[in-house]
Amino acid sequence: MRKLTAGLISAGLLLVLFSFVYAVHEIIPSETQIPLPGADAKKLGDYIVRYNPYTTWDLWPGKGRLFQGRDPHGSLLTTFVNYSAHYSAKNKEPMTDGAIIAKENYTADKKFVALTVMYKIAGYNPEAGDWFWAKYGPDGRAQVSGKVKACIDCHAVRKDNDYIFSGSISK
Ligand code: HEC
Repeated sequence: MRKLTAGLISAGLLLVLFSFVYAVHEIIPSETQIPLPGADAKKLGDYIVRYNPYTTWDLWPGKGRLFQGRDPHGSLLTTFVNYSAHYSAKNKEPMTDGAIIAKENYTADKKFVALTVMYKIAGYNPEAGDWFWAKYGPDGRAQVSGKVKACIDCHAVRKDNDYIFSGSISK
């Protein structure tokens, strides 16, 4: 009888523990559980496609899917933001370590041509907002990545806006 009671109690405790772990899992967005990829285009690609799929993220606040874009990114764009980037964008703050913006670029007839990504890594490139830049083709391969001069030179027009064109931050 004692054994049974002890068994029941431990089973109960286990159940409580599992419910707690499950609840925490539900509350904390997955990106806090999977280690961030660091300054590596291949790992970043795996991270945003497999481990924390960008297609499940929020869109840039106030922007819909396939909105009208400008050169050089393509005619139609969809901009996804991970939890951290969404939080900062919503609050009009500069992005913090781990923020990722992933933008799908389409032609006017809705053909997917590239995924362009800005990923904030504290200390990575302080001269240019600490962004890691990457452009992936439809095959998922990175065409350019890192401290990409072309990306930085154009986005630098918005240096005071954390190098971001979409939305504005009020420091
Ligand atoms: C000639 C200017 C120019 C260049 C070069 C450029 N971008 Fe952009 N980028 C823009 C503009 C303008 C937007 C705003 C969206 C739009 O309307 O096209 C933008 C938006 C973005 C966004 C969404 C966040 C934001 O700033 O609004 C990402 C991510 C991005 N670009 C990544 C890149 C990457 C990666 C490269 C280099 C491979 C790059 N861009 C090169 C002009 C540029």
